[in-house]
Amino acid sequence: MSVLICGGAGYIGSHNVRAFLNHGEDVIVIDNLVTGHKQSLPESVKFYEGDIRDGKILDEIFTQNNIEAVIHFCAFSLVGESVEQPLKYFDNNVGGMISLLESMQRNNVKKIVFSSSAAVYGEPERIPILETDPTNPTNPYGESKRIMEKIMHWVSLQHDIRYVSLRYFNVAGAWHDGTIGEAHNHETHLVPIILQVPLGKREKVTVYGDDYNTPDGTCIRDYVYIEDLAHAHLLALEYLRNGGESQIFNLGSGDGYSVMEMINAARKASGHEIKLEIGKRRAGDPARLVADSSKAREILKWQPKVTSMEEIISTAWRWHKSHPNGYDA
Ligand code: NAD
Ligand code: UFG
Repeated sequence: MSVLICGGAGYIGSHNVRAFLNHGEDVIVIDNLVTGHKQSLPESVKFYEGDIRDGKILDEIFTQNNIEAVIHFCAFSLVGESVEQPLKYFDNNVGGMISLLESMQRNNVKKIVFSSSAAVYGEPERIPILETDPTNPTNPYGESKRIMEKIMHWVSLQHDIRYVSLRYFNVAGAWHDGTIGEAHNHETHLVPIILQVPLGKREKVTVYGDDYNTPDGTCIRDYVYIEDLAHAHLLALEYLRNGGESQIFNLGSGDGYSVMEMINAARKASGHEIKLEIGKRRAGDPARLVADSSKAREILKWQPKVTSMEEIISTAWRWHKSHPNGYDA
């Protein structure tokens, strides 16, 4: 039986495709390539170019293949853009989820692993954050992810579908051999932005505020290595295969690092000086976001292996140095 990876040509999806293949899974990918790259996929993978809001193509995929489970990465995920164009986000993210669950129902597919986000929590009331803490998203992107979780919840109660929702914190790094990595045309994430300086694509990094209530004044985040994150999806699928009930899990390393600490780690990883300037705060950035991932460790037996920031950034550096223009190189 096969696993359908929706959004498998994106940053996180493509690393999951590799991890699933290495684990001996039979993988099928659907992606509309809006932000994904076909070149990130091995040629051997069966690929459908299409939009998951199109129920016809989903039905075709489910009919032509013997699919046991869906791993769902499709989404728009730029927080700022979601504030400016909320309907674009609800249409793609929520609309995509509804279309996917409808087709799963029609085709008797019962398991789904879903990419949720720390953005569902909004400004946290305490650190580290537990799955049971309040969810008050502060932007349409986070709201769309929370709505998608709720839709899965109600559908799972009425129909025989079980889900695992994985709330990622900050995902970083690249496949260890540097052959695939993060390649967003509109890049907002800290690690690739920092590395644009040693790549000669940007003169300096702008640190968004150094007046937060943190030891060095810059924001603290919980960075999780992409291969460790991908492994959690395999464990989540195994959990569902073993009859596990629907669950939500935080995925983070449990340690927080400041923007300044990340820049210093990137200096060591790249061997470059990396200039910075202190800029204004970015609207909507919480001072600290750190996960309590003990539930994933206990139930899924998930154990992140790469937790040194220098090591994580070294993998990203290997990818960016060898692909300075991403997949267009
Ligand atoms: P990405 O943009 O690289 O990947 C998303 C993929 O889905 C792309 O290949 C895109 O072309 C495809 N896609 C989008 N809408 C589609 C649709 N309607 N039909 C078919 N394909 C579609 O993003 P990413 O960074 O790999 O993130 C993957 C998932 O993880 C997203 O759901 C995102 O919200 C979530 N997430 C990411 C992070 C992070 O740090 N990168 C953190 C939390 C959650
Ligand atoms: N930052 C800078 N300068 C930059 C870019 C980022 O100082 O040029 C800072 C941000 O202010 C933040 C930290 O670096 O403090 C990390 O920023 P990212 O944009 O890399 O990541 P976010 O923490 O904003 O976003 C992540 C995920 C989102 C998710 C969000 C939940 O990437 O998908 O966490 O809040 F929605």
